Amino acid sequence: MATRRVALAMVLALALCAVGIGASSRGPGCRKHVKRITDYGAVGDGKTLNTAAFARAVADLSRCAGDGGAALVVPAGRWLTGPFNLTSHFTLYLRHGAEILASQDLNDWPLIAPLPSYGRGRDEPGPRYSNFIGGSNLTDVIISGQNGTINGQGQVWWDKYRAKELTYTRGYLLELLYSRDIIISNVTFVDAPSWNLHHTYCNNVTISGVTILAPIHSANTDGIDPDSSSHVKIEDCYIVSGDDCIAVKSGWDEYGIRFNMPSQHIVVRRLTCISPTSAMIALGSEMSGGIQDIRVEDSIAINTESAVRIKSGVGRGGFVRDVFVRNLRLHTMKWVFWMTGNYGQHPDNSSDPKALPVVTGINYIDVLAENVTMAGRMEGIPNDPYTGICMSNITAHLAPKAKKLQWNCTDVQGVASGVWPKPCPQLGAVGKPCTFPEDELVIGPPELPKCTY
Ligand SMILES: *[C@@H]1O[C@H](CO)[C@@H](O)[C@H](O)[C@H]1NC(C)=O
Ligand SMILES: *[C@@H]1O[C@H](CO)[C@@H](O)[C@H](O)[C@H]1NC(C)=O
Ligand SMILES: *[C@@H]1O[C@H](CO)[C@@H](O)[C@H](O)[C@H]1NC(C)=O
Ligand SMILES: *[C@@H]1O[C@H](CO)[C@@H](O)[C@H](O)[C@H]1NC(C)=O
Ligand SMILES: *[C@@H]1O[C@H](CO)[C@@H](O)[C@H](O)[C@H]1NC(C)=O
Ligand SMILES: *[C@@H]1O[C@H](CO)[C@@H](O)[C@H](O)[C@H]1NC(C)=O
Ligand SMILES: *[C@@H]1O[C@H](CO)[C@@H](O)[C@H](O)[C@H]1NC(C)=O
Ligand SMILES: *[C@@H]1O[C@H](CO)[C@@H](O)[C@H](O)[C@H]1NC(C)=O
Ligand SMILES: *[C@@H]1O[C@H](CO)[C@@H](O)[C@H](O)[C@H]1NC(C)=O
Repeated sequence: MATRRVALAMVLALALCAVGIGASSRGPGCRKHVKRITDYGAVGDGKTLNTAAFARAVADLSRCAGDGGAALVVPAGRWLTGPFNLTSHFTLYLRHGAEILASQDLNDWPLIAPLPSYGRGRDEPGPRYSNFIGGSNLTDVIISGQNGTINGQGQVWWDKYRAKELTYTRGYLLELLYSRDIIISNVTFVDAPSWNLHHTYCNNVTISGVTILAPIHSANTDGIDPDSSSHVKIEDCYIVSGDDCIAVKSGWDEYGIRFNMPSQHIVVRRLTCISPTSAMIALGSEMSGGIQDIRVEDSIAINTESAVRIKSGVGRGGFVRDVFVRNLRLHTMKWVFWMTGNYGQHPDNSSDPKALPVVTGINYIDVLAENVTMAGRMEGIPNDPYTGICMSNITAHLAPKAKKLQWNCTDVQGVASGVWPKPCPQLGAVGKPCTFPEDELVIGPPELPKCTY
């Protein structure tokens, strides 16, 4: 009888989830159960490795998924850890002054499988290093707080990558796979080993009030990369990086074509970007599953190479279509418009030379740029032109050392109205104002949850 009772108690303890500190507000998206990382033995001295504490916390709190969900609170302090995964119906909450630091010891980074839509790691063939924060097949995940920081401490990775000392592809700072109903809000990401936020095969993602910072010469530190993902909203973000501030992708050559999952219904609003060697928003170069219905509004780029750039090439297949851009303010740009048809970079020698991307329906409205070196470098693909380009109400004020040739257009077709400097003949036809969809995409909750823990 007594042993039975003990056994029953143990079952209950396993089945019931943790009860810890309470939430200081309740409402949609606020979790019933709240624990601190210190409850799992973590030490925030910047030196103690807390990998086991994060793993224990997530395993413990995953049991709350069916009972109101759980929040893991990271208090002020410097919390060093190896990679860890998230769970469903879960909030990772970084209080003011909290900094989660990624271990710089490569032995703390296990290897994981490459993405099926890439067929191999992006830097190197074969498997890849784990992402710092990961998760697969999750529902209802929030990363938020009082602007705490997730720091990838990427310098060691950039150095080793550039010295060609890495056997495997670098991990991303945050990668969620096959997940839905995600909110990332009011947190800062710094010094990612490679890309910062990588949402892959995800649906219904809101990224709001996020700061992303990496040195402008760091290697491949893309800000936000929605990849084969649908219904993604990126609002009020500030990104300084060594690569594209945002890059929408959908798999690589024959692997992406086979996986066949597009990135679509993506909204970007009120982005501020600084990226002197890359784009404010790139579409591609990996776009083999297709990219469509992309809406960009009310955004600013400063000292950035180009604005909304299309990157593709022979072998990619797929498509980029129905892209709508309006109301950009740009300052110090090498090219306001840049389209690339020969991006190169193939996963292996099996890319299909007959896999030609279809690029069509690209609209740019109300763009004002200052200190521009060249207005448009527009290069489609021979025998596979980029078509349906529309530009209206565009003004590029030139830099003192601007190029004499302001537009260089090959294998592109479209219309322009109210564009200065006068565009190339391929865009010369007099057009109407370009279109921007009237309907509003429904992404994320009607209002961001307001929970403090
Ligand atoms: C995270 O989950 C993935 C599977 O989605 C697994 O391969 C990886 O080992 C996990 N990482 C950690 C640190 O537990
Ligand atoms: C996640 O879901 C995908 C697609 O349904 C499946 O192929 C994969 O095995 C799942 N991964 C995990 C770690 O459960
Ligand atoms: C968040 O922190 C970052 C890095 O310290 C800072 O640049 C940014 O201005 C902060 N954002 C807010 C809203 O306080
Ligand atoms: C999207 O996710 C939010 C939570 O982030 C949820 O409130 C909303 O119902 C989801 N929308 C759809 C269409 O699934
Ligand atoms: C591709 O082909 C080139 C030469 O034809 C060869 O040197 C290279 O190793 C091949 N690469 C792969 C990944 O098979
Ligand atoms: C043209 O674009 C500018 C911003 O660059 C905007 O202020 C102006 O209202 C637009 N003009 C029209 C006619 O829409
Ligand atoms: C204008 O752009 C040039 C590069 O073309 C840069 O060196 C210069 O600082 C910029 N001027 C201003 C006022 O931002
Ligand atoms: C114009 O673009 C084409 C195609 O990219 C290139 O071959 C050519 O050199 C460019 N011309 C000038 C003057 O930059
Ligand atoms: C982020 O901060 C804004 C402004 O303070 C607030 O409206 C929003 O609810 C916060 N997001 C979350 C998920 O708490």
